[in-house]
Amino acid sequence: MKYARYFCLVVAVVSAAQARHPVRARNAMVVAQEPHATDAGVSVLKAGGNAVDAAVAVAFALAVTHPTAGNLGGGGFLLARMADGRTAFIDFRERAPEKATRDMYLDAAGKPTGDSLQGWRASGVPGTARGLEMAHKKLGRRGWAELVAPAVGLARDGFVVSYALAESLRRAKRLAEFEESRRIFQKNGAYWEAGERFKQPELGATLERIARDGARGFYEGPVAERFAAAMARHGGLITAADLKDYKAIERTPLLGTYKGYQILTAPPPSSGGVGLLQMMGVLEGLGFEKHGAGSAAATHLVAETMRRFYADRSEHLGDPDFYKVPVTGLISKSYLARIRESIDPHRATPSDQWKPGSPAREESAETTHFSIVDAEGNAVALTYTLNGGYGSGVTVPGLGFLLNNEMDDFSVKPGHPNLFGLVGGEANAIAPRKTPLSSMTPTIITRGGELFMVVGAPGGSRIITGVMQVILNAADYGMNAQEAIDQPRFHHQWKPDKLYTERGFSPDTIELLRQRGHDVETNTTGVALVEAIIVEGRGKDRWLAGGTDRRAHGKAAGY
Ligand code: DON
Repeated sequence: MKYARYFCLVVAVVSAAQARHPVRARNAMVVAQEPHATDAGVSVLKAGGNAVDAAVAVAFALAVTHPTAGNLGGGGFLLARMADGRTAFIDFRERAPEKATRDMYLDAAGKPTGDSLQGWRASGVPGTARGLEMAHKKLGRRGWAELVAPAVGLARDGFVVSYALAESLRRAKRLAEFEESRRIFQKNGAYWEAGERFKQPELGATLERIARDGARGFYEGPVAERFAAAMARHGGLITAADLKDYKAIERTPLLGTYKGYQILTAPPPSSGGVGLLQMMGVLEGLGFEKHGAGSAAATHLVAETMRRFYADRSEHLGDPDFYKVPVTGLISKSYLARIRESIDPHRATPSDQWKPGSPAREESAETTHFSIVDAEGNAVALTYTLNGGYGSGVTVPGLGFLLNNEMDDFSVKPGHPNLFGLVGGEANAIAPRKTPLSSMTPTIITRGGELFMVVGAPGGSRIITGVMQVILNAADYGMNAQEAIDQPRFHHQWKPDKLYTERGFSPDTIELLRQRGHDVETNTTGVALVEAIIVEGRGKDRWLAGGTDRRAHGKAAGY
């Protein structure tokens, strides 16, 4: 008996040691995908800025140091929950230009041309500067220029190129196609080496305008004029009027529950929040967790839940200002029960035999994410993107920033898969000023009114399932922030009918999944890059635990 107890203790100590620890801090925490940006956020927090101030500084810094996704030429979503309970969701996603048309990416024979992914015609109207300004005006407290300053410094004075950035820039084929991008980001083919100092004077000048004039410095005046003129010269669609008229939109975040947790998350035009709440609502009654993390039985049940949501996504989700998205129907208890009952615990449902459902209609490839909690308990989850790595590949000459290829997030043709293999139809068809459907899922979770978790990720269609798995790992299996992220992940999106598993699933688990009828693709990469903060303990035992994705090169830091 005594021996057994000793043995248990040893096992407990060993397994605690095996779990990688998150970064822990008492007061405030930033987790972002690039270390200079994390440091910019921590400096703002230490200087008395709140989480929203820090978010503005981190987002502008990422636009300099993480050009694959950090941006001025893209867009995203910011979710904030302040310690006093106020919440805000700012949609600063790109919108289709006024001249966009439904079939603009199809040739005369109705075949997709690929222009939604590369070059001057691939971009929606960028939203980042307006979105950050809106968040700052509403909830920030430090001076605007002070928050843009770290980015200006990083651009003007340069920063030391990391191994990760050097490799990423070298491999970015799309950048090589456009002269200005090739000059700035690839040294005209000589490439940046790790350890070199990378200065971006043109971007620095653009950021200085934004620091001085606010978002207007981007959407009007010399920057906008130059931007629109370059677009016109290269056959792009974005005009000076598109820029001037761009508005960030404040929307009401979605709120749901899961086993006593309150989940605050992204509403349409993200499909992420609806997906999270639908899938977790189905899973709540399914008892998957009793099989254990990484087991074939749990993986099967969660994958079947994923399959069903992505079918609904293809039909029912789009920009709510253009299409009536049946949000309530898609996450209603009766609808979730119907989905739950359709899941066979022993057998995969072939996607061909599963169609999008009929919910009640009673109501009207790089992204980056960071999570921040400040010393007062205010929290921000921000995901923004150029869509594919380095977006459309186009840098606006003289302005130093890359443009997005977010138009590819529309359904360019019904049933035609986008960059992430997602299909769609009417709900997500192209129309002027419409917002393409997103999977970005910035999420903040509370328990008993207390902050529990701030989480989000890049990863295209895999964002929603990645964010969900990290939440389940923490909520159902009690993993710490780092363990929850490190755990091997999997993904199913209905079409293609494949279960993608990351390295780390044992061969016998894979075999059991195949026996259930899954077409398993092993060793998949790109299962989202999750950046999360979990609040551990209470009172004097309270810690902020920051977990950054082992699959990327980010940094968690706090004080
Ligand atoms: O909004 C979306 O869903 C996509 N544009 C996100 C793209 C993305 O996450 C790429 N990163 N790996």
